[in-house]
Amino acid sequence: MNVLLLGSGGREHALAWKIAQSPKVEKLYIAPGNAGTASLGENPDIEATDFEALKIFALERAIDMIVVGPEDPLVKGIYDFFTGDIATRHIAIIGPSAQGAQLEGSKAFAKEFMRRYNIPTARYLSVTKENMEEGMAFLETLEVPYVLKADGLCAGKGVLILPTLEDARYELNAMLNGMFGQASAMVVIEEFLDGIECSVFALTDGDHYKILPVAKDYKRIGEGDTGLNTGGMGSVTPVSFADEEFMEKVRERIVEPTIDGLKEEHITYKGFIFFGLINVKGEPMVIEYNVRMGDPETESVMLRVESDLIELLEGVNAGNLDEKELVVDPRTATCVFLVSGGYPESYEKGYPITGLNLAEASDSIIFHSGTRMKDGYTVTDGGRVIAISSYGETKEEALKQCYKVANMIGFEDKYYRKDIGFDL
Ligand code: AMP
Ligand code: GLY
Repeated sequence: MNVLLLGSGGREHALAWKIAQSPKVEKLYIAPGNAGTASLGENPDIEATDFEALKIFALERAIDMIVVGPEDPLVKGIYDFFTGDIATRHIAIIGPSAQGAQLEGSKAFAKEFMRRYNIPTARYLSVTKENMEEGMAFLETLEVPYVLKADGLCAGKGVLILPTLEDARYELNAMLNGMFGQASAMVVIEEFLDGIECSVFALTDGDHYKILPVAKDYKRIGEGDTGLNTGGMGSVTPVSFADEEFMEKVRERIVEPTIDGLKEEHITYKGFIFFGLINVKGEPMVIEYNVRMGDPETESVMLRVESDLIELLEGVNAGNLDEKELVVDPRTATCVFLVSGGYPESYEKGYPITGLNLAEASDSIIFHSGTRMKDGYTVTDGGRVIAISSYGETKEEALKQCYKVANMIGFEDKYYRKDIGFDL
């Protein structure tokens, strides 16, 4: 079959790496892809949200399946666009309908959904300019710190955690007055949950589900989880505290009620669901839903999926995921990101990257994120540049391998965290 994968980050390189291993795949295209995905398939120069151009391309190249990497095309309705058109409805779209994608596209929608199905999550209130006073009063019922979330998509920047009531009031006002444009016309005020986070990924066909290996990501730029938030500095799977007892609670209280709730409301959902969880004294609670895989979790999780991913995705599309087998590699996998100096604030791009051949010949797997080809050389082209992923019997062993390879790869002002997994 011919597969078109959408997106251009490290997550997509990792998905492409896994998809390309399937004997079922004849041709793999990654749109728009990056310098890394170009070695696994073809990179047509089409944006993941340009549905009309994707349709023409998919028909021309006889695409059988489209796997959607990022949330944007899903929230914009790519599932409905392709399945609602007689010319393209034979193509399997891996991802939810626009309605299903609201689980990520609207924090207020997600919170109301969880409330309807008694899914454990932080106490909250959704606020617009109309009920701002109610919002201010709700803040007073909470303890420090305060969590404010823009309702809509903000590329991971829409959550503020504020140390004082005064700050929270000020920022609530600013958000409702256009701080994140239309995305913060509604704000979800939440109670702060104290605990350790993990990322649970499920694949669902709308009826059945399979839980992929559980991972933990490291979002802050500085060691010890300090400094600014980034797109992700590394990840580890498995997660020691997500043991059988914890995961039983996750399945029973979170995953199953979510899938049953979607079904109950006739919301079509055939794809990945990402449960951003927090472990509060042994009890899992939902911080957020995402309607796609995580980055940089995918760069470690895919290493542990032994089964043919395409076979599973065929089950997702056909509605017989229960008949497919998910075999998980028992080893640990870790990922360490090399980033541009200065990131997540301003940084330079276009520096040549050395040592890639050496790194690719090592026992690690190299995934590109912010890279580009320039005059036959690979150069840096973003904040997060390269993900180094490794296996190990333990996380220490896997990380040691990642750090060994981190030293083989060179570019001006290279930075990476040396304490991934420190809290596990
Ligand atoms: P989100 O964009 O919803 O993933 O939020 C970004 C980050 O903010 C999360 O990964 C958490 O670290 C933190 N966060 C969000 N909501 C809460 C909450 N209710 N309590 C504590 N931390 C939170
Ligand atoms: N690693 C978090 C995310 O992909 O949103």
